[in-house]
Amino acid sequence: MTESLSASRVRIDLGDERCYDIAIGTGLIAQQASFDVARAGTPALIVTNSTVAPLYADTLAGALAGRHPRLSRLVLPDGEQYKTWDSLNLIFDELLGGGFDRKTTLYALGGGVVGDMTGFAAACYMRGVPFVQVPTTLLAQVDSSVGGKTAINHPLGKNMIGAFYQPLAVVCDLDLLKTLPARELSAGLAEVIKYGPIADMAFFDWIEANIDALRACDPAALAHAVQRSCQIKADVVGQDERESGLRAILNFGHTFGHAIEAGMGYGAWLHGEAVGAGMVMAAELSRELGLVDAAFVDRLTQLIHRAGLPTRGAVIDAADNAGRYLQLMRVDKKAEDGEIRFVVIDGPGRAVVRAAPDALVRQVIDRCCA
Ligand code: NAD
Ligand code: GLY
Repeated sequence: MTESLSASRVRIDLGDERCYDIAIGTGLIAQQASFDVARAGTPALIVTNSTVAPLYADTLAGALAGRHPRLSRLVLPDGEQYKTWDSLNLIFDELLGGGFDRKTTLYALGGGVVGDMTGFAAACYMRGVPFVQVPTTLLAQVDSSVGGKTAINHPLGKNMIGAFYQPLAVVCDLDLLKTLPARELSAGLAEVIKYGPIADMAFFDWIEANIDALRACDPAALAHAVQRSCQIKADVVGQDERESGLRAILNFGHTFGHAIEAGMGYGAWLHGEAVGAGMVMAAELSRELGLVDAAFVDRLTQLIHRAGLPTRGAVIDAADNAGRYLQLMRVDKKAEDGEIRFVVIDGPGRAVVRAAPDALVRQVIDRCCA
């Protein structure tokens, strides 16, 4: 089953004037009409990075030139290790130094790192300016550009400083994925696979059947993966925008994964790679809690492997690996009163948030780390 490649739309329904659309299709960033939602005549700033700028900034600027008489661009250094206060300040320096007013529209042209930082800058600048997400990685198209989570990292914890702040629109141009390195495509597949065990096992079946086509960048397969992932995320965010409950299921694999990212040093493992291994660990914990059987864990592990992702966690501390994981996971945003809470699979296609005894978590870490 695949979608046609003509542009499609997924609505993020927040129940108020902040509702917006995700446009999914080809050739979108070259078309003025893709950005109709942004107010004409206002100044604008494209925020991007040193890898994406030479590939796509001119095309986007061409589509925006008629809408924004003053259009600037800011090129940030590339990498998860730059998702910091310093980079955020570069955005504010550009905005304040250039005299950009509160009607300025920000365009985030890049992967999740650029998207998360630009969104956070938009949330803060003059107490909030409009922004548009133009995601250029698979991971950003299926997850990070959607739903309004924005953040930077802190050395003590991933995405710990941030805000909920929704974009005006998300424009997913599938053509941009053609230049994505294979390792980054695999990282994006981790977030695609995630939607199966937490919400839709029929989608999981489809991913299993199409994983080779996805890795080969088959346009129709990618279109369907982006479309279905965005639909599932839209449904969850529409019910629980600020993660008072349900939205936490989108963090399946992330509690372990964030510990890998912070423990190894940001950028050593890609976010999607850490989520891949983290999902195996979370599935294994689900099995230890008696919620799923070994066959389910094996099936998920196989698919993560076929996606080109690691299925074993990193050793982040040679002396006390499990202890270091536990220490890092206690600063996870889901933790309450120092008690770590995990997204576990409560039967295929259903996820819940649960605490687990440290001893059990230690066993899982010891068993799942290389
Ligand atoms: P990324 O932004 O670092 O991009 C990955 C790499 O691909 C970078 O080197 C980038 O320059 C390059 N790149 C981007 N687009 C390209 C293209 N079209 N062609 C060639 N190269 C391209 O990483 P990512 O995987 O997109 O995002 C990871 C980040 O997203 C993490 O910081 C994670 O915390 C965040 N995230 C946020 C949310 C959310 O809800 N806000 C959800 C998931 C992940
Ligand atoms: N990526 C998790 C969320 O958006 O809630």
